[in-house]
Amino acid sequence: MAFFHRRPDWHLPESSATPESVYMNRRSILRAMGLGGLALSGGILLQGCSQPTDSNSNNEPGTNTSDGGSQTDAGTTTTPEGSSVTPPSDPLTNYDKDAPGLDLYPSKRNTNYKVPERDLTPEKPAQTYNNFYEFSTSKEGVWPETGAYDTTPWTLEVTGLVDNPIKIDLDKLMRQMSLEERVYRFRCVEAWAMTVPWTGFPLAQLLKLASPQSKAKYIRLHSTSRPAQMPGIERASWYPWPYQEGLRLDEAMNELAMVVTGVFGKPLTKQMGAPVRVILPWKYGYKGPKAVEKIEVIGEQPKTFWNTAVPDEYGFYSNVNPDKPHPRWSQAEERLLPDGTKTKTLLYNGYADQVGSLYTGDEY
Ligand code: MTE
Repeated sequence: MAFFHRRPDWHLPESSATPESVYMNRRSILRAMGLGGLALSGGILLQGCSQPTDSNSNNEPGTNTSDGGSQTDAGTTTTPEGSSVTPPSDPLTNYDKDAPGLDLYPSKRNTNYKVPERDLTPEKPAQTYNNFYEFSTSKEGVWPETGAYDTTPWTLEVTGLVDNPIKIDLDKLMRQMSLEERVYRFRCVEAWAMTVPWTGFPLAQLLKLASPQSKAKYIRLHSTSRPAQMPGIERASWYPWPYQEGLRLDEAMNELAMVVTGVFGKPLTKQMGAPVRVILPWKYGYKGPKAVEKIEVIGEQPKTFWNTAVPDEYGFYSNVNPDKPHPRWSQAEERLLPDGTKTKTLLYNGYADQVGSLYTGDEY
């Protein structure tokens, strides 16, 4: 089967796709941070939601060292503190053996949410071609780097402008919600796409439990940041960690916005964002943070990770739109995993009926 162990031929290295203005912008960010000479002389660029500029990695799982990883001959990796870690053996079961809600899978599929025009993406390419920069900037390099990541127990917090702040053990929360499976389209701004069965519950249900106040207008989503368990953070220390995202409150309350704890009928694997992530199928994938530990309900539009890192490339709304090209990627077409079959991009990724009324069309 044509899995993505090797880069497909449509997959441009970023160095060949980065316009000079973007490159220059990155140079000035790095210089402003005192990292310019160091980062550039080491061949590292601020990449955006993209793939590494490595020229020497073969990108086979378990072998990538393109972003400065330290894999040894024995197959172990070392943490930033120097302790050795055994990489996971199977990417498809790469969750803790006592993962939150383990016995709740598989959950019943909600057939109101399906993707009639295409098949599910096969599990292996979907689970091994990842963007999760806390571990690695190489897509195939993420899962082998998750050996030290411990997701159990996990506490999720909803705080800020709410009448009932929540701080709860994820396993307990999952038993209070009714989990369901939904098949959604997933679209990365890099123009690759997949079709995935996610398990979880509506984000609106969690927010309603916390009871947002009338001043509440936005939410800020915080990913965890654990340099000792996530080797990519120190290697790419110029990024504005921790990973954060934001939504307008009415977007967050939309029926499609989902708190996701599982995929392919099992707990989320570590590379897919264990133990809990947010999925927003009408937006580019980077709007959905992985490994979420806190949701803040706030009054002002929050700053976000990618908008802070590369403001010219990543807006706050980031709705899938075939007519709004990204500086490096036309958005008119998308390429389906695993073989790169091209299809036309749909406005709001095919979810205009559910979310079209939230927007005027001018949002960026
Ligand atoms: N969340 C965190 N915390 N860190 C990340 O690097 N990458 C984002 C998003 N969420 C990212 C993240 C991007 S760019 C994409 S496209 C999706 O996760 C990728 O999800 P997948 O690896 O499950 O396909």
